[in-house]
Amino acid sequence: MESENRNAWPRHHIRIVPNLFDPLKLRSVELRNRIGISPMCMYSSEDGFANDWHLMHLGARAAGGAGLVMVEATAVEARGRITPADMGIWKDEHIPPLARVARFVASQGAVPGIQIAHAGRKASNSRPWEGGHALSPAEGGWPIVGPSPIPFDSGWLVPKELTVDEIRDIERAFQSAAVRALEAGFHVVELHGAHGYLIHSFLSPLSNHRTDRYGGSFENRTRFPLETVRLIREVWPDSNPLFVRLSCSDWVEGGWTIDDSVSLAKLLKPEGVDLIDCSSGGGVPKATIPVGAGYQVPFAKAIRTAAGIPSAAVGLITEPMQADQIIRNGEADLILLARASLRNPNWPIDAARELHFKGTWPVPPQYLRML
Ligand SMILES: Cc1cc2nc3c(=O)[nH]c(=O)nc-3n(C[C@H](O)[C@H](O)[C@H](O)COP(=O)(O)O)c2cc1C
Repeated sequence: MESENRNAWPRHHIRIVPNLFDPLKLRSVELRNRIGISPMCMYSSEDGFANDWHLMHLGARAAGGAGLVMVEATAVEARGRITPADMGIWKDEHIPPLARVARFVASQGAVPGIQIAHAGRKASNSRPWEGGHALSPAEGGWPIVGPSPIPFDSGWLVPKELTVDEIRDIERAFQSAAVRALEAGFHVVELHGAHGYLIHSFLSPLSNHRTDRYGGSFENRTRFPLETVRLIREVWPDSNPLFVRLSCSDWVEGGWTIDDSVSLAKLLKPEGVDLIDCSSGGGVPKATIPVGAGYQVPFAKAIRTAAGIPSAAVGLITEPMQADQIIRNGEADLILLARASLRNPNWPIDAARELHFKGTWPVPPQYLRML
């Protein structure tokens, strides 16, 4: 009968593409929409502990309608903190306050996630609003480590070159962190492999000058993240997704490139990584970065299409229509928001309005009268 209606699309011309408010299922975990809160350091912990600030900050964004709320870069060992005020997960005592955050986020219908991290040669700094400078021991700083004894920039601390045994210890610290994250009730764990921190500094030939099996060739420079992922997957349940955030490009001649990122993503997928979170930069102080609306989206698209693994797009995604288009165009599977969600914790609810979303809006019953 369809042929009687000249305006009807033949069925095979209709392609159902996901949009920003379609759920995203990764393993057994379903996000209610494609909007995630990107990990954001709050520099507000004492001795690594989560507190009321984190509950308020992350809780507000879960109540604001996000599908995923990710806890900031959380240090797997104390010397892996960027600042003394970073969040930590290096001891069991850290679990209960993190569990409080995860519980509340989940109670609001968002999936609680956590980024586990080691700052490497960018550790031992003061907080950004205190100048973000290298801390001397007198100021409460500590000895830092990296793949090679090359400081990030002049005026920064010189990292001690890690021995192979010390690398293995840090890999196991990531594994223990994943065990604690699970106990705290997080459903997604993300390995921080971006922004010049320890894992990225192993990947990039600009910061890794080692001559042993952790440096030199692509295979050697990627050994540390691959071994770490394997250890995490041993303890992280099959039902739960594992993300890796990469700096997809150093934006510098001779540095880590998007082609390297695609090659690494192809290796990470069979190890049980479910999504690559596509950021960039941070590895070297001077890089020419074409910052503009959605400037890292092409990385998410390249990883998704060339490596065949789901990806997240992040970076100057501020408008609902823009975010929706990225999903509809198949450029990424998930949108991560950082600064836009600081400006407006209810960004997802506002986006549902702007996009005329027809389903159940992610609004807590207490706030229904806002609609
Ligand atoms: C306050 C703040 C803290 C951040 N902390 C982290 C972090 O802990 N881990 C991380 O991978 N990126 C961190 N970032 C980067 C963001 O996750 C995000 O990738 C970046 O801000 C670009 O997204 P946007 O344009 O939506 O802000 C931080 C950004 C901000 C603004």
